[in-house]
This record gives sequence, C-alpha cells and structure tokens, in this order.
Amino acid sequence: MSLTQQTDDRTLVLADGNAIPRLGLGVWQIPDGPSCVDAVRWALELGYRHIDTAQAYGNEESVGRGLRESGVPRDEVFITTKFFPRRKDPVAQIERSLQRLGVERVDLYIIHWPQDGPTWAWPGMERARELGHTRSIGVSNFSRSDLEEVIAVATSRPVVDQVQFSPFEYRRALLDVAKRLDIAIEAYSPLGTGRHLGNATVANIAAEVARTPAQVLLRWGLQRGTVVIPKSTHRERIAENAAVFDFTLTVEQMARLDALDRSGGTKRALERPWW
Ligand code: A2P
Repeated sequence: MSLTQQTDDRTLVLADGNAIPRLGLGVWQIPDGPSCVDAVRWALELGYRHIDTAQAYGNEESVGRGLRESGVPRDEVFITTKFFPRRKDPVAQIERSLQRLGVERVDLYIIHWPQDGPTWAWPGMERARELGHTRSIGVSNFSRSDLEEVIAVATSRPVVDQVQFSPFEYRRALLDVAKRLDIAIEAYSPLGTGRHLGNATVANIAAEVARTPAQVLLRWGLQRGTVVIPKSTHRERIAENAAVFDFTLTVEQMARLDALDRSGGTKRALERPWW
C-alpha cells in the first residue's frame, strides 16, 4: 500500500502487537498546573486518545488530573512517559510516574535520551514491562548506531524511537533503518516548536489544499509513516491539529516538503545532543 493511502489510518500496530494512535498531544514545555490539565482535558474531549509526557517535563500529575477530569475511560487512552536517564533505575522511576499519573500502568515507557550510552538502562526498561508497569517499551533520541547497540543486548527490542522529525528534519536514513528494524518513528516537534509554521513552501501548500500550515506539517508526518505529537495549550489549535485525517497531500506536494530537509537525510537523531 502506498503511504499516501493511509488517510483513514489513525492507528499503528507496534512490533509487540500493541496499537498506538498516530496522533497524540505532546505536553513538553507545558508547566504542571491548570494549563496542562486543560490541554489534556481539551484534547481528550476533542477526540485525542494519546498523551505524551515525560518524567523530565515535571507535569505528570497534571496529565493524570486532565485524564480523570475528561471522563474518558483510562483504557481508551494511550499514555507515554519517559525515563529520565540522569536517574539510575527505570523501575523505581516508573513506579513514581504511575503514582503521579494516578494510573496502574502506562502504555509506553521510553528512555528519554541515550545519556551515558544507549544500553545500560535497557534491562531496567524490560523489567518495568515484565512487572506490568508498561505495555510497551522504546527509546527516544536514539541514532541508528544507538538502535543497533541496544538491539544487540535486548531480550525484547524497543518498538518506537521518538525523534525530532519534520520536513526540515527529515531523517530519511534513520526512518529507513527503523522500518527495517520494525521500530516505529514518533515525530516530536513536528511543527518545529512553531518555527516551521511561517515557511513559504508550507504556506503555499496549505493554500493549495485549503488547510493550515500546522495541518500540512502534521499530514506530511502521517504520510511519511510516523506518529505525530504536536503540542499546544490552545483549545482551537488542539482541535485544528486533530483535523488531519480527511485530506491527502499529493506525491508532488510531499516531494516539495521533503526538499525542505536541512538534515541531509541523516541517520542521526539530533544534530546537537544536549547530554
Ligand atoms: P501554543 O502551545 O501556544 O498553542 P511542536 O509541536 O513542534 O513542539 O510545536 C508547538 C508550538 O507550536 C507551540 O509553540 C504551539 O503554541 C504552537 N502551535 C501548535 N499548534 C499550532 C497551530 N495549529 N497553529 C499555530 N501554532 C501552533
């Protein structure tokens, strides 16, 4: 099937058999408190079924509160959190996350970045899954070589790699290797934290399809086979970002967006690691 035929495909089945909604709300940079509670509640009211948080964001309590206030049953929502790799023990840390979130388990637990190497935390991640604290395990900010190293030591492989990914950061070699390894790519900062919304090519294509720049960028990510997790604290933008399953970009429009890549089609997860 051609990727441009995935218009109605809202869910991806991961290598471990668990299903992940292809659109999620990202809550990076939303402070703990009412703005995070509101964003999560609005997203769930508007039909999102996937929230992506992290121990490092410091807002897991608000994510849990937003989930409860939405009234959407827990088992209908896919929740991701991330192991903060400046701590030692993924199991101890997820047990704290579960308390803060107020849930029995999360759906996905990923190593936030390969601090001090890509392999040391993996046994703890596998243990967290064995204990039932999470249904799936994965990684984030892992380059091709990091993925290969962790797979070499893994009993059960990571099923996702969450990386910075957009037409401007089109990590084609990383996407290709992830496909070969049956690892789903989750695109964080799919709007370039807002920076890509003003680009002229994006704006032109948005005009052609009578959509907004944000919808074009997200649609590009879906048609490239990724899961997208845009962040917003505005209800109308959260709604806008979800309206991406009822139109298709043509092969020619996709190619014009691909040409915006500044990563050189890299296999790296990030040009300037912060760790
Ligand atoms: P805000 O949270 O104030 O709505 P990314 O997902 O790439 O990290 O981008 C998030 C940034 O883009 C945030 O600054 C967010 O602002 C902004 N943003 C999210 N959705 C939209 C939208 N539909 N239109 C304009 N800006 C948006």
